[in-house]
Amino acid sequence: MLSDLHRADADFFEALRAREFARLDAQGIAYLDYAAAGLYGASQVAAYAELLGGVFGNPHSESAPSRASTDAIEAARAAVLAYIGLDPAEYAVIFTANTSAAIKLVAEAYRFGPRRGFVLSADNHNSVNGIREYARRAGAPVAVLPLDSELRLDDPIPRLAGHRDAEGGLFAFPAQSNFSGVKHPLSLIADAQRLGYDVLIDAAGLRGTALPDLAGSGADFIALSFYKLFGLPTGVGALIARHAALGRLDRPWFAGGTVDFVSVQLDRHQLTRGAHGFEDGTPNFLNIAAVPAGFAMLCTLERDRACRRLDRLTARLLGDFQSLRHRDGAPLVQLYGPQALDGRGATLAFNLLAPDGLPIPYVAVEARARDFGVALRGGCFCNPGASEAAFGLAAADMAACLAETGADFSIPRLAACLGPAQPIGALRISLGCPTSERDLDRAADLVASFAA
Ligand SMILES: Cc1ncc(COP(=O)(O)O)c(C=O)c1O
Repeated sequence: MLSDLHRADADFFEALRAREFARLDAQGIAYLDYAAAGLYGASQVAAYAELLGGVFGNPHSESAPSRASTDAIEAARAAVLAYIGLDPAEYAVIFTANTSAAIKLVAEAYRFGPRRGFVLSADNHNSVNGIREYARRAGAPVAVLPLDSELRLDDPIPRLAGHRDAEGGLFAFPAQSNFSGVKHPLSLIADAQRLGYDVLIDAAGLRGTALPDLAGSGADFIALSFYKLFGLPTGVGALIARHAALGRLDRPWFAGGTVDFVSVQLDRHQLTRGAHGFEDGTPNFLNIAAVPAGFAMLCTLERDRACRRLDRLTARLLGDFQSLRHRDGAPLVQLYGPQALDGRGATLAFNLLAPDGLPIPYVAVEARARDFGVALRGGCFCNPGASEAAFGLAAADMAACLAETGADFSIPRLAACLGPAQPIGALRISLGCPTSERDLDRAADLVASFAA
């Protein structure tokens, strides 16, 4: 019964690949970097081309072309909430340039202070880590929740309770790690809120079809980028915020499009309430107009089917990694984070090992991946906290090498200082619904080519 289901899924996704993503096979690319950017389907391009047959003006006027743009933006706002399953009476959608800009909207406007601090997971993208600079400027305490050996949060609830400040604070973590693929429990949101925190979820690491997991999570703020979900548009992200949480923010400035009025002679202004008060200047209206077609494409995948497919492909990749070995039986792959499917998504970070167990520099694997037509990612993926935990990088060693490299810091100099046994970067394969078994065959061939 189950295998019939998987066969039906395989047929469905094979047809999807031919219909929506034929350019992958036509160009011979095994694209395995969906955590960095999703791919758009042909139907999105067609729908967008049709839409561009309209006449769109700057949405800040009252003309028909201007209203067409306003309507397109409002349709996109509605599509975001409808797909995730959030109620517009509870949540606002603020369009931004990307996830980083969405996070910065919260960071710069959150009322940090000595009695209202910032707590974040060690596993975070730098776009969340950077919030600490705003917190510190406001004299707020900053605390980091550590990771365990599987790169999951280590006993987070008592730690959150311990760090809670007199007036609460902001707690930020990713729904899915862009390093290890760990899905941090969304139940932490309510736990943290009970302790008095506002909670910011970085949803940029989630595949699009997993977004509805956030419905009912109660998150105060959710940040995402649309190109990660479905490739097109680029240059647009969103901060999805509870109206009540938005009302607690204190915007540090105003700009065109965000105010009900400004008087220069009176030196007064009034910020527009809701999403508009956070959208500085002219919104990216033509790109925002491409958002609904992306969600329409995701809807055709069906969430359960997509999750089943991604789990199956992830399980296959985990199995490949565990079975690939050198001729003497030494392991070829060191996988970071969860070794099994539980509580993880379709993002895997790893290094290849030489027969003597030393890591093969990730740049050498990246270079060969290009020759194999495999698009994967190398480095630390802007997630230094998960990297440090995964690589067992001792703070003292890192401090000594940073002191040695000083202003001349470079990754090769850091690597030379830390020595060949210490990985400073990894490889990442991340899967999406267009991924086929053939892509995984290519990835396995690439890895096997390092066997000695
Ligand atoms: C988990 C996570 N958060 C935030 C970001 C930043 O996204 P953007 O570059 O679109 O602002 C990324 C991008 O890779 C990410 O993976």
